[in-house]
Amino acid sequence: MSLSNNKGVMLLAFLVVVSLWFPSTLARDVAIPNDKILSKSRVYVRNNLEDKSDVNIHCKSRDDDLGEHVIKPGERYEWKFRVSIFGNTLFGCEVKTKYGSGIFVLYNASEDEKGDDGYVGWEVRTGGVYGLNRIQHYAWQK
Ligand SMILES: *[C@@H]1O[C@H](CO)[C@@H](O)[C@H](O)[C@H]1NC(C)=O
Repeated sequence: MSLSNNKGVMLLAFLVVVSLWFPSTLARDVAIPNDKILSKSRVYVRNNLEDKSDVNIHCKSRDDDLGEHVIKPGERYEWKFRVSIFGNTLFGCEVKTKYGSGIFVLYNASEDEKGDDGYVGWEVRTGGVYGLNRIQHYAWQK
């Protein structure tokens, strides 16, 4: 084996060691604030109106407008998103029923209380919008 080949083998070995070592160094140096950047957040709103009427919903965050949707009786509307690591992700939704309407915060990253199914769940009833994983009830505003 010539001297230059030996150098080549050593260089290769060096590169292998560096490439094995470097990713783990990166992983240690990059701060991961919490599991929110790794997993998507999910929210759903279920129509539980007993008279089987529709619910109209329109949700928005600062970056996303999800558009208007009709939630049929017994069905649920859901959406998923990644929580911004800078600032606080909020979704506000205008909810309209024949019993009343209002604009409510249905997702607040600072509170983010998921149920066992991984969703922040809400139920629309005649009295307003009820949180399923926390003690939260929004009465109709109008
Ligand atoms: C989001 O939650 C935080 C922490 O509870 C609260 O201080 C803040 O007012 C909430 N934001 C909105 C818009 O409800």
